[in-house]
Amino acid sequence: MAKHTLFVCKSCHRASQERPENPPFDDDIFLDKLNALCSEQFLDDEIEIRSIGCLWACDRGCVVSVGSVDKPTYLFVNLTPEESSLPLMEFLQLYLHSKKGNIP
Ligand code: FES
Repeated sequence: MAKHTLFVCKSCHRASQERPENPPFDDDIFLDKLNALCSEQFLDDEIEIRSIGCLWACDRGCVVSVGSVDKPTYLFVNLTPEESSLPLMEFLQLYLHSKKGNIP
């Protein structure tokens, strides 16, 4: 199975709040949660999680992107670590097991 990548913006904080001066930041919490869930639900070689500087949707954080060499790349915005982690895992399951990556 081709490698899939989940890019997580490491600079996001939800647009509705000021970014706090001290950690933990939303992006750190989100990244930790996604790492834990992915290690539970996927094999090591199925998905790579990469923390990335910015996904260019800064006023709509938290932002992640999912891509693979032979499939379309998806951008997800307005996410929260609490509410978006499990639905994102469901999407990843569909995406990984889809031949062309077209998820309705
Ligand atoms: S700061 Fe997260 S998309 Fe730019």
